[in-house]
Amino acid sequence: MTKILMVCLGNICRSPLAEGVLKSKVNASEIFVDSAGTGGYHIGSLPDSRSMDVANEHGIDISNQRCRKFTSEDFQAFDVIYVMDKSNYDNVIALSDTDEDRKKVKLLLEEADLGISEVPDPYYDGTNEFEYVYGLIEQACNQIVKKLEHGRR
Ligand code: 4NP
Repeated sequence: MTKILMVCLGNICRSPLAEGVLKSKVNASEIFVDSAGTGGYHIGSLPDSRSMDVANEHGIDISNQRCRKFTSEDFQAFDVIYVMDKSNYDNVIALSDTDEDRKKVKLLLEEADLGISEVPDPYYDGTNEFEYVYGLIEQACNQIVKKLEHGRR
């Protein structure tokens, strides 16, 4: 079982989308996907309604998700930790202990050749930005799926 964690700041906008999108593309018996936020502002909350809406428009229900905070134990529990932006990267790395921990942390968009490295924080923006963010996440997840399939062969 490969375990993948999606991380952003709030765990209500970007990483819930990344969790939902990747889950929709993999076999749950082979790949476990979860998400967390480095900030603890929204623990226990549903994803942002704008994230739930954009996911719904693409046929994905993320309303079962509840916000949780990233902890140092996640380094042991997960094989890969994808962060949405460089500030998430710094926040996660700050909680790492070993080089092995640090090797697990990657920018999500490193997986896709889109000419940008960060998924922008859409929290203060409108619906269009959520749609844009969804597209970035989906393209990266398509590449992750290809990579996982390639690794199995
Ligand atoms: P996210 O967006 O990191 O994509 O979940 C944010 C959500 C909430 C806050 C910041 C970013 N906040 O400051 O409450």
